Amino acid sequence: MTDILDPLTVSPGIFDITATPLPAHRDDWERRLLEHPNLLRTIAENVGGPFHIMYPARIVENIRAFQKVFADAEVRGDIYYAKKANKSPSVVGACAKTGTGLDVSSGGEFLAALRGGIRGADLMVTGPAKSDDLLELSARYSALVAIDNLDELARLAGLGIPSRALLRVQPPGSESRFGLTDFELDLALTRTDITAIRLEGFSFHLTGYEAAPRAEMAASLLERCPEARSLGHPITTISIGGGFGVDYVPAEAWNAFTKLVNPRWFHNERFLSPKSYYPYHFPEPGPRMLAAVLANNDLGARLREAGIRLAIEPGRALLDHAGCSVFGIQGIKTRIAYGVPYDILTVNGSSLSLSEQWFNSEYLPDPILWPQSAGSMTPTSIGGCTCLEGDMLSWRRVPLPRAAEMGDLLIYPNTAGYQMDSNESAFHDLPIPPKVVLNDVSGVRSFEWHLEVPRTVD
Ligand SMILES: Cc1ncc(COP(=O)(O)O)c(C=O)c1O
Repeated sequence: MTDILDPLTVSPGIFDITATPLPAHRDDWERRLLEHPNLLRTIAENVGGPFHIMYPARIVENIRAFQKVFADAEVRGDIYYAKKANKSPSVVGACAKTGTGLDVSSGGEFLAALRGGIRGADLMVTGPAKSDDLLELSARYSALVAIDNLDELARLAGLGIPSRALLRVQPPGSESRFGLTDFELDLALTRTDITAIRLEGFSFHLTGYEAAPRAEMAASLLERCPEARSLGHPITTISIGGGFGVDYVPAEAWNAFTKLVNPRWFHNERFLSPKSYYPYHFPEPGPRMLAAVLANNDLGARLREAGIRLAIEPGRALLDHAGCSVFGIQGIKTRIAYGVPYDILTVNGSSLSLSEQWFNSEYLPDPILWPQSAGSMTPTSIGGCTCLEGDMLSWRRVPLPRAAEMGDLLIYPNTAGYQMDSNESAFHDLPIPPKVVLNDVSGVRSFEWHLEVPRTVD
């Protein structure tokens, strides 16, 4: 007989079936929005369904913080916002206002960038096996094409239009399907029949969120620059891609969650190992991570000496604190787990508007119940209004500060980076949640708001 208790047969109390809190950091504008007596209600009534809020002023701030790191390190650097992270034209607007380029991967993204006021020369075209149309568009607008394959290089050259390119490099030792191998790089650099193309340097994108591997790979590509220049290529640029982390929740909350997380916290025991979660606490996020990259083995100084500019393609980090997603509660059930009651809410939208749910993961910063009032802690899982069992916005039982009521709002914080619209579809003929843009009104702590007109792909 064993004296180890099977954790699933012990009858626990309310705290045993409830996830530990993961309260997101709050910006001043987020506080102002939540504390406003009726703005959220007014917008919700006007929209009549779920909606996303965008606050472009914070994107401008994030961009300026990255630019400051380049300036402080005296490194020539340029930002290309990875457009896939959010479709809102308000992000493109913030980029245009700050001289920021865009990383685009389709004709639709390319045209949306031009329409938003970005110059063709400030576009970086990434993605595998680009279509002939996208290559031609890139060449005609002098965009920088990150070449992913030798046939792509040949197709671009074959257009006979003066064009600009970087060679995307496969991370050594990786199984990535993106980028050129060492051998292919040599072939590309020594081709003599691609005279229409200015080869301006190299690019890569690494998975994970660590500074050192990015700095090391940039340093190893720096070593390739003299040889590439001697072959006649005007090498000016190394792009280290994206992957700049975001710090969603405080360290203590994150450490407690990852230490204690277990199946009992989840509706239907839908447990996921901590490894499947994004690192929601990130000690050196965004611009600080860029500073760490530049400081690693004096990369900044080496770039300066070599006359190379560093390009970065942040998506998520440029959108840190730039938006949130708001759902109305249209159903409440009480159920029992391990003898303890908990609520299951149904909101007026679906988990397609909270993309992380579709990557065998869960968006972990806690939703905020609005109006914010006190009560008794209520373990609450949150489902969408579709007829799919798996359509859950929060499988875990979130410790809401009170029991939710019909018509209350739930605000998922900090969702602008990838969470809002990557996976949205009009499933069930439900309308896709619109985006609401908030701007400050000078002199008062309130906002002007307007609905953003959705654009169809041209
Ligand atoms: C080539 C490239 N650049 C930039 C990014 C943006 O990454 P993040 O949003 O993590 O900064 C990605 C993401 O997949 C990418 O593939």
